[in-house]
Amino acid sequence: MIYYFSGTGNSRYAAEKLARLTDDTCVNIASIYNGTVKSVEGKKDVTGFVFPVYYSGLPEMVKRFASHPQIREALGSYVYCVITCGAETAAADEMLARALGREPDLSISLKMPDNYVIAYNPSGSEEAREILRRADSKLDKTAQAIISQGRYRSPGFKKRLLTFVMYPFYGLFRTTLFYRADGNCTGCGLCAKVCPDRAIEIRNGRPVWLSKRCQHCTACINRCPERAIQFGRATARRGRYYIMNIGNGEE
Ligand SMILES: Cc1cc2nc3c(=O)[nH]c(=O)nc-3n(C[C@H](O)[C@H](O)[C@H](O)COP(=O)(O)O)c2cc1C
Ligand code: SF4
Ligand code: SF4
Repeated sequence: MIYYFSGTGNSRYAAEKLARLTDDTCVNIASIYNGTVKSVEGKKDVTGFVFPVYYSGLPEMVKRFASHPQIREALGSYVYCVITCGAETAAADEMLARALGREPDLSISLKMPDNYVIAYNPSGSEEAREILRRADSKLDKTAQAIISQGRYRSPGFKKRLLTFVMYPFYGLFRTTLFYRADGNCTGCGLCAKVCPDRAIEIRNGRPVWLSKRCQHCTACINRCPERAIQFGRATARRGRYYIMNIGNGEE
């Protein structure tokens, strides 16, 4: 069984490809939490986790899910993780190991297009396609490693330090206080549909952020077809990244 979490589609793309190549089933962790998926059937002896790195660590939902006693008990004898990133996954796999109560046998960092529009310009379409081309070839090799139950782990002291310094900022930036829809919003509702945390509701034709905190996955801001969602001031000048927008993945 492959469990994945994804905001802008990179990790979902990787999980679906690995599922095809390793003849397994993948399931979206967010769908388990929001009740759209009730029972899941996949390989029992192999458990994979695919998700993006956030501030050199785990998305909150992944941390919560991995530390759930039922998930810990249902782990296969072979456990792997594929962590997608714009640059570096640091010691995110060690955080996963702590949540699961066991080390993954195989831990892979997969460079994918960068989606973090809140801090900088995300990858443009051409750059993103090139990164995905390289990621495809790494996924082919990763699938072979999973099938042969290979072992690989990487973190060292510097990576641990990066996670130790960076991860507390995730807690600070998970606020929804600075999200707003500008005058270009048409009320289409797509932002609410793509939110993995059910944090958005459309009221009177406008998105309203319901909870004070969310996963901070940037799906809403990156997916809005009108580029109408802003986080503070800087995002109005920046591009947007969503895997479907560059012709990959399915809605
Ligand atoms: C809140 C947030 C924090 C991020 N932090 C990092 C990071 O620390 N290092 C990094 O290389 N990429 C970082 N990224 C980039 C994503 O990990 C990367 O684009 C990932 O592939 C997105 O996956 P998704 O499309 O499945 O959501 C961050 C993105 C977000 C939204
Ligand atoms: S996706 Fe954009 S245009 Fe559609 S409701 Fe949300 S903010 Fe408005
Ligand atoms: S509100 Fe936006 S950033 Fe927060 S979890 Fe939902 S889609 Fe992601």
